[in-house]
Amino acid sequence: MIVVTGATGNVGRPLTQALAGAGGQVTAVSRHAATVPDGVRHVAADLAEPTSLTPALDGAKALFFLLSGDLHAPEARPTDIIDMAAASGVRRVVLLSSQGVATRPLGPSRIAMRAVEDALKESGLDWTVLRPGGFASNALAWAESVRTQGTVAAPFGDVGVPIVDPVDIAEVAAACLLDDRHTREVFELTGPEVITPRQQAEAIAAALGSPVRFRELTREEAKAAMVQFVPPELADDTLDIIAAPNPAELRISSDVERVLGRAPRPFNDWVGRNIAAFR
Ligand SMILES: NC(=O)c1ccc[n+]([C@@H]2O[C@H](COP(=O)([O-])OP(=O)(O)OC[C@H]3O[C@@H](n4cnc5c(N)ncnc54)[C@H](OP(=O)(O)O)[C@@H]3O)[C@@H](O)[C@H]2O)c1
Repeated sequence: MIVVTGATGNVGRPLTQALAGAGGQVTAVSRHAATVPDGVRHVAADLAEPTSLTPALDGAKALFFLLSGDLHAPEARPTDIIDMAAASGVRRVVLLSSQGVATRPLGPSRIAMRAVEDALKESGLDWTVLRPGGFASNALAWAESVRTQGTVAAPFGDVGVPIVDPVDIAEVAAACLLDDRHTREVFELTGPEVITPRQQAEAIAAALGSPVRFRELTREEAKAAMVQFVPPELADDTLDIIAAPNPAELRISSDVERVLGRAPRPFNDWVGRNIAAFR
């Protein structure tokens, strides 16, 4: 049995599908009720209350561990979940971490995430750490304004990073959960090209077949929008990267190809699969 946390999200949904498609027994975890693929068990649990995970972990051998926004808060104790998983008989954990742990090790949210990585590495469990850069799916934040006003509003419009398709993250995670060749490895996951927010807006416009206006936000405006979803430390650390990515954050990683044997998907591909959200 493989337990997938964040199972209804950008990474968790395709991961659950991939694992179920490979014939594995899968438990999908999220707080809210959800439609899951045939044969998958859904268990409602709140990661902020680790004991609520006990029924999901019953009989589990592997865990995909995604830290929800509230687990990034300074008072959260995400390492309790690793301890609980080990006590329940889980042998393998794939942790969704972040590229910033390596590229911005002094950011407050990165220090906290590094502590989770270190706790996992010291747990005695088989582990794999995934460190993705920014997700292509962050563009979904623009869906409503594209639909209603034909506008993308974002900060640092001409500063690009090699954003990664969450489906690539999911497929790498599935490989790491199903195959023990990837234990004790840290994978940095990026897309195949550096792309700016303005170029992303152009890709959405091309797929829609109608113009999309780009409006540049100030850093303050962007932070105000982000803190609705993530703690302020994480918002600041993220804005530091997208304002001025350093050479490590601009590098195209070969790790998706190393694990999957194929190149990572470009942003155009993500847009093609998600264009309905922008119509
Ligand atoms: N976006 C980026 O650019 C980026 C870059 C690097 C790393 N990351 C990391 O990627 C992760 C987000 O992945 P994602 O985009 O796939 O997530 P997502 O689409 O935002 O979905 C979050 C998932 O987690 C569940 N969830 C949220 N809070 C929960 C809680 N307290 N307890 C249990 N389940 C909870 C949600 O379902 P319910 O709401 O029903 O619970 C949903 O299934 C975060 O750990 C983030 O740090 C993101």
